[in-house]
Amino acid sequence: MPKRVYLDHAATTPLDPRVLEAMLPYLSDIWGNPSSLYAEAQEARKGLEAARRTMAGLLGCKPQEIIFTSGGTESEDLALRGVAYASRRRGPPAGKQASHIVTSAIEHHAVLHTAERLEQEGFRVTYLPVDGEGFIDLAELERAVGEETTLVSIMLANNEVGTIEPIEEAARIVKEKNRHTAFHTDAVQAVGTLDVSVDRLGVDLLSIGAHKFYGPKGVGALYVRARTPLQPQLLGGAQEKNRRAGTENVAYVVGMAKAMELAYREFDARNAHYRALRDRLLDELPARVPHVHIVGPKDGSRRLSNSFSCCFEYIEGEAILMALDLEGVAASSGSACTSGSLEPSHVLTAMGLPQELARGSLRLTVGKGNTQEEIDYLLEMLPGIVSRLRALSPTWPERETAEAEATEKPL
Ligand SMILES: Cc1ncc(COP(=O)(O)O)c(C=O)c1O
Repeated sequence: MPKRVYLDHAATTPLDPRVLEAMLPYLSDIWGNPSSLYAEAQEARKGLEAARRTMAGLLGCKPQEIIFTSGGTESEDLALRGVAYASRRRGPPAGKQASHIVTSAIEHHAVLHTAERLEQEGFRVTYLPVDGEGFIDLAELERAVGEETTLVSIMLANNEVGTIEPIEEAARIVKEKNRHTAFHTDAVQAVGTLDVSVDRLGVDLLSIGAHKFYGPKGVGALYVRARTPLQPQLLGGAQEKNRRAGTENVAYVVGMAKAMELAYREFDARNAHYRALRDRLLDELPARVPHVHIVGPKDGSRRLSNSFSCCFEYIEGEAILMALDLEGVAASSGSACTSGSLEPSHVLTAMGLPQELARGSLRLTVGKGNTQEEIDYLLEMLPGIVSRLRALSPTWPERETAEAEATEKPL
């Protein structure tokens, strides 16, 4: 049996040793402030700008269209507030209402909570519903966008169920309806498993967080297409061309660029590896455990290659997580941020799952270090865990039979 089996790569990934190696010089010898003018600073600036060029090359944008941030959450915040406040500063056209934002009901809380705050501040926000597989309805999107819509924010891939939203079509529809509307996509879960070329997607803003693709935590980026109105949120120095104040985290930015470069270089091999492991879960888990519902798109090409999500009837996801942890497996129920709260996931309920079923959710997200043996280990152990928990569950219809069987067994 392996020591520990980590199946929560959507929560975070381990730092790739090659990334650490790229970062180390910037944590030791090259410590200058990249905004200063002397030689020590220029070394740091060189590293920072090389990282920007690398990422721009992979995103298919200009280096100056990348703003370095402290992670996915800050990138989302800057995208939403930055565009919303910039539009308010310009004011609505004569006779028009306050500016309007469109997003979806299954966004990460970094987007949803920011949208809710903007709503409290007087912006109008439309939350698009999703279908049973987590897809937005493009016709609804088209209806929602109007003259006052300044921003549309739809995630590229969902962190809980792996649904890949049709961003290319969505962005095209939005631009046809209102060419002044900025389109933001949260690509935090997508980098490393999907192509995130900004022109192919047709987006104006795109959020990235390095720790989801074997880079360091606490660093990210926001792509902002040239001439997109954006009001800075962190105020202070003139870093990042006056769009995000604060001395850049040079070593971590260098690490993020290295991690992204590796993700692209190993793109096909990683995706094939993830898909093989994930498909085994999709095929085998329902065959081994009764009363389980696979969640997310049935079409494997429309869900992230590394993502598996299901719901067990009659048990709580939290209880499964604890039992799995005791058996050496790290997994998640819904998103990491909502684990520990008894509220069922907003994503699963938006997809129409009944609350009791949504409470029994399990998310397994595989990574490049996982093996078939680890998946086999999980598949062998999980049926036992589920039946033990169900035997204790007051809602399990076969409980009395299970109890009778348990008392019949000699100790
Ligand atoms: C889809 C999505 N967006 C945003 C975030 C927030 O990113 P960060 O942890 O870098 O702040 C996450 C992290 O779980 C995520 O999965």
